[in-house]
Formats: sequence, C-alpha cells, structure tokens
Amino acid sequence: MTKILILGANGQIARVAIRLFLARTDAQLTLYLRNAHRLTETAPADRVTVIEGDVLETATLEAAMAGQDVVYANLSGALEQQVSRILSAMNAVGVQRLIFISSMGIYDEVPGERYGSVLDSYRNAARVIESSGLDYTILRPAWLNDRDDIAYGTTRKGEPFRNAAATVSRSSVADLVVKLAMTPGLESRGSLGIHKAP
Ligand SMILES: NC(=O)c1ccc[n+]([C@@H]2O[C@H](COP(=O)([O-])OP(=O)(O)OC[C@H]3O[C@@H](n4cnc5c(N)ncnc54)[C@H](OP(=O)(O)O)[C@@H]3O)[C@@H](O)[C@H]2O)c1
Repeated sequence: MTKILILGANGQIARVAIRLFLARTDAQLTLYLRNAHRLTETAPADRVTVIEGDVLETATLEAAMAGQDVVYANLSGALEQQVSRILSAMNAVGVQRLIFISSMGIYDEVPGERYGSVLDSYRNAARVIESSGLDYTILRPAWLNDRDDIAYGTTRKGEPFRNAAATVSRSSVADLVVKLAMTPGLESRGSLGIHKAP
C-alpha cells in the first residue's frame, strides 16, 4: 500500500488531490499542514493521518517523512527555503520520490511571455530539486481554475508551453498528481508543463 505525505495539505490543489486519492486508490495519506483545524472534510481514520506542522520545522517534518513512499509538496511562499528543508528531511530518512507543484514560466518556456522576478522562488526551488539525486517530478501548471473538469495535456522541459492563455483546472493537476504518485517511475526526474487541453 503506497504511503503518501502531502505537504501543504490545506492547499487548494491538495484538497482536490486528497479527494481523488481517497476515491480512486488505497493509498495511506499523511496530511501535513500548519493549521489542522482548517481541514473541513472528515477523512476516514483508517486512511488518513493528520500532522500539524510547518515544513520549516525540521524535527516535525522528519518524523512525518519516516516510512513514506512519496512526498507530494503543494506549497507557496519561501519555496527555496522550504525545498532545502524538504530535501534534507528526505535524505535523512531515505525517501526518494518527490512530486512538487511549481508554476508555468520558470524556464521562460511560455511563447511570447517572460515572467520576471515574481517566479524567482519557483525557479530557485526547481533548480535545487533538479540538482538533487532524488526521483522527482516537478509540475508547472498554467493559471488555475476551480472547475471540476479534468482536461489537460503536458509538455516536457525544453518544449514550449502550450495553450498558456487558457486556465487549467486544479482537478486536472490533482489527477496528474495521483497518477504520478501511484505509478513508480512515471516521469521520474521530469518537469511537466500542464495546460488545458484545447
Ligand atoms: N494561482 C494560479 O493560477 C497558479 C498557477 C500556477 C501555479 N500556482 C502555484 O501552485 C501552487 C499550489 O497551488 P494551490 O492553489 O494549491 O496553492 P494554495 O492554495 O495557496 O496552497 C499553498 C499551501 O501552502 C501552504 N504553506 C505555505 N507555506 C507553508 C509552510 N511553511 N509549511 C506548511 N505549509 C505551508 C499553505 O498553508 P496555509 O493554509 O497554512 O497558509 C497553503 O495551504 C502554489 O505555489 C501556487 O502559487 C498557482
């Protein structure tokens, strides 16, 4: 049974992913978030463990990491600092697989667009992950929406981002997170742009 640690579990994509993991898989989930009382949905106790913590708290993070198969990071803010703590904790406890939500534009891969320093923390975090020895997949969604449709395509690093003018649903990103988490080796050491399927 796959054990998945979800960092930033109250994030908007993470909340959709949790629903999909529970509905489609038998994975055991550990939800890691700063304010546990914010979780609104009741989760089955035999499938879900909740840990209150900040990803910058090394001891709490390492304890949560122990025994996990997959770390899915759905964070915002000081991403470079967060990633360095996450990678240290993964190395300390021997977890290899990381799925990390980033953003389109970090490689200037969007035709006709150059996102400036606003994406620096995403760029720097991706650089740190890519220079690690981990089994990672970075996801770079287009602008997001909260519709229920699952309709997306992906592009690999080095390819131009497609259909950047359209928003892609958080449900689509969550769908891909679940597939990646449940399929060992899928897009290992890859960085995928996620666009709305036209
Ligand atoms: N908006 C867009 O169109 C768009 C497009 C592409 C990519 N993205 C990026 O994709 C990522 C995920 O999107 P989303 O909509 O799911 O984001 P979100 O709802 O803002 O979720 C981010 C989560 O990170 C948590 N977090 C931040 N710092 C933390 C820390 N130090 N320790 C633990 N948790 C921490 C926050 O926790 P709290 O709830 O405690 O604050 C929040 O729940 C974000 O980085 C977002 O910027 C967004």
